[in-house]
Amino acid sequence: MNITHISAECYPIAKVGGLADVVGALPKYQSNTTTKAQVIMPFYDNKFTQANSFTSIYKSKLSLDTTAFDFNILVLEENHLDFDVFFVDIPELLFKDYVYSFDDTERFLAFQIATLDWMLTWEDKHPDIIHCHDHHTGLIPFMLQESFKYEAFRKIPNILTIHNAQYQGSFSHDNVNLIPSFNFDHVGLLDWGGQINPLAAAIKCAWRVTTVSPSYMEELKLEANGLEDLLNAEHAKCSGILNGIDWNVWNPETDNYIVENYTIKTVESGAKSNKKYLCDTFNLDEDKPLFAFIGRLVGEKGSDLFPEVFKKALEENNATILLLGSGNDDVEVQLEALKKDFTGTYNAFIGYDERLSHIIYSGADFLLMPSRVEPCGLNQMYALRYGTIPIVRSIGGLKDTITDISEENGFGICHDHVTVPEITEAIQRGVKLYQNKLKYKKIRKQIMSIDHSWNVSANAYINLYNNIN
Ligand code: ADP
Ligand code: GLC
Repeated sequence: MNITHISAECYPIAKVGGLADVVGALPKYQSNTTTKAQVIMPFYDNKFTQANSFTSIYKSKLSLDTTAFDFNILVLEENHLDFDVFFVDIPELLFKDYVYSFDDTERFLAFQIATLDWMLTWEDKHPDIIHCHDHHTGLIPFMLQESFKYEAFRKIPNILTIHNAQYQGSFSHDNVNLIPSFNFDHVGLLDWGGQINPLAAAIKCAWRVTTVSPSYMEELKLEANGLEDLLNAEHAKCSGILNGIDWNVWNPETDNYIVENYTIKTVESGAKSNKKYLCDTFNLDEDKPLFAFIGRLVGEKGSDLFPEVFKKALEENNATILLLGSGNDDVEVQLEALKKDFTGTYNAFIGYDERLSHIIYSGADFLLMPSRVEPCGLNQMYALRYGTIPIVRSIGGLKDTITDISEENGFGICHDHVTVPEITEAIQRGVKLYQNKLKYKKIRKQIMSIDHSWNVSANAYINLYNNIN
């Protein structure tokens, strides 16, 4: 079986969030003697593309309505990844130093058209499965089914995985001519709420729809930024498959980013060295429990409450807090401003830093994830693997992966609502747990032995592909 993943992000090539981690790991775990998985993604102007050399294997032009754009398909001259990656290079549109921006409609539509135009030239080697990720590739299921020029693809099963239904990529019907021509009687398939909605179109046209955790699928049927009715109507083809994590990249025993490697047996000293590095670098008191946050500073992650939560938690508790993230400007300013009031117990690195994130997963004592929405969440699984106890709001994938310490065999701290009192109370519970050294050590070892590698979930996708008809 030949599986082609199509995605805007793929680790280590281009990463904004968890989508990259998933698309950079799943194909490895899906490739074996009988199955081969590969990725098609845009060619951006970033560190990875600057550091590597590429060869063009195909050149053509694509049309967006009446405008023609040159495009190339590139491959790595030396591929050290465990799967094939094909890059769609559209110099005028995609080759930018960002992944997402204001002009995404044209950029990602061109990406999708170039991908399918090129796939037409594969002749008898068409993929057995086309697997699309999020709204950036959401018009592919529609085009496969409806666009005249892609008639050859009608019988190829395609899947949509929803990593985040908040973002849907809607644009005006005035731009319908950007989409390669189709029977206009079927234009309703593109529409949701009076706009062309790529995510909705994919939910309607894909052969199967998955979300990245079972709970998120159920939650979307109640609240999906306007798509609830559609997901209820299409429920028969929808299911949730929990993400896994790349067991090789996220391994404290071999991780090159961290200060000292460790195993379950050596976690005490290993995690301590990493904590010391963080405390030295960020001027934090090493004797206090360290609570960390890593992620995008957006409403979904509850980040607007951080300034107030951090202030309250630090005033009331013997704790330290370290944040790594960027996003909302106002939140960033407030988080910077807090530094002067809590020198020695709080610090923040506003920005993106892959290496620092690994050191935080290993050196922090607790990881905060008070998300309003969390389709899966990978951070809590990374934290578990590195022996850092997650403090999460029970929602989506967080609900599916973390059990509160008050329950039998529980190993995390959970709260139900995203409010300042509930998050600060959860932090307080963390401080208490940290003071109970024996229990804390026991849980740390327990969480490091939980297996969230991709093995199980990669098979769940293969089963899904095998049962499509
Ligand atoms: P989302 O995709 O919603 O942002 P996930 O939990 O699925 O959330 O994945 C986030 C990924 O991005 C993780 O690998 C996390 O470590 C990484 N990440 C997020 N923000 C940063 C940052 N500022 N610096 C480094 N890594 C980050
Ligand atoms: C999205 C979600 C996140 C999930 C990731 C990977 O970015 O916000 O919860 O873990 O995709 O599927």
